[in-house]
Amino acid sequence: MTAPTLEIYLSDDDLTSALRADARLGLTADPKWLPPKWFYDARGSELFEQITELPEYYPTRTERALLERVVGEIARTAQAEVLVELGAGSAAKTRLLLSALTAEGPLKTYVPQDVSSSALRAAAAEIATEFPGLAVHGVVSDFTDTLHNLPRGGRRMIAFLGGTIGNLVPAERAEFLSSIREVLEPGEQLLLGAGLVIDPAVLVPAYDDAAGVTAEFNRNVLHVLNSRLDADFEPDKFAHVATWETEDEWIEMRLEATEDMTVTVRELDLTLQFARGEQMRTEISAKFRIDGLDAELAAAGFETEQVWTDPDNRFALVLAARR
Ligand code: SAH
Ligand code: AVI
Repeated sequence: MTAPTLEIYLSDDDLTSALRADARLGLTADPKWLPPKWFYDARGSELFEQITELPEYYPTRTERALLERVVGEIARTAQAEVLVELGAGSAAKTRLLLSALTAEGPLKTYVPQDVSSSALRAAAAEIATEFPGLAVHGVVSDFTDTLHNLPRGGRRMIAFLGGTIGNLVPAERAEFLSSIREVLEPGEQLLLGAGLVIDPAVLVPAYDDAAGVTAEFNRNVLHVLNSRLDADFEPDKFAHVATWETEDEWIEMRLEATEDMTVTVRELDLTLQFARGEQMRTEISAKFRIDGLDAELAAAGFETEQVWTDPDNRFALVLAARR
């Protein structure tokens, strides 16, 4: 086994500066909001792993079952030498893809990328042990910044699984998909996992589970602000809210102040007022229709080659080639 390498394009200081900028922008806006990438410190990544095991949270197990079914087909058409995975997290489902790509094709290198260095370090080490013939090069970076720092070295496939594409608003998605196209050569592929629009009676509990794990995940962004920016949020005084926004076709997660509060963000010299009942947006999780996904991919310069869905039409895997 070759030890995995880790390239860090986001140091701890970089993360703090980026959070400063995002917090100043979002917390001084009306209504207040924060980008979802700030959930994922070590505790947030761990809470996300717990979410994936919840009975209400269908996306992970649905995507895994779908991947199990179609991974051979993907591997045979992909013939990738390098698999890049954006927002890899624990890369739990990626094992399926790696097994198929090494059994059916010439895969030599796996490049997991994530903003969470703790999740990435653990995933890279485990995969290097499980797949001793594979070179593993982890990259700590923000996939909304630049993708030009991803290692090259052979025919590539970029995987973006889990439905994380839905955590970007439409304008961010367009920019993100174009930036993926920019780093691929014609014919190289993107494998995209996306949640589909389904009954809100199934969707909403997936984001508001009975055990309260998603609520804790949501409040984790306040812990991150407290520790990185010396803020004094009292997370327990914020209630978790998850709603299905019919027009936008996304789940919106917010934190609602349960009483009037003054919060200080010392690193920003910022004093914030929260009125009881005030809600701050912390995440969207958009769900898609196949024709909409197709159109977004086409607009970014991709041609959809194949789409697979689970039997209940809850989740889609799309294989698209860069034009
Ligand atoms: N792909 C995994 C994990 C999904 S959770 C799965 O399918 O289960 C979303 C992952 O994206 C987290 O690991 C989080 O740290 C990462 N992430 C979120 N925003 C990011 C950003 N802007 N840049 C890089 N990684 C990001
Ligand atoms: C990472 N992402 C796809 C998850 C989702 O379903 O939007 C994050 C999440 N938020 C709440 N639960 C899970």
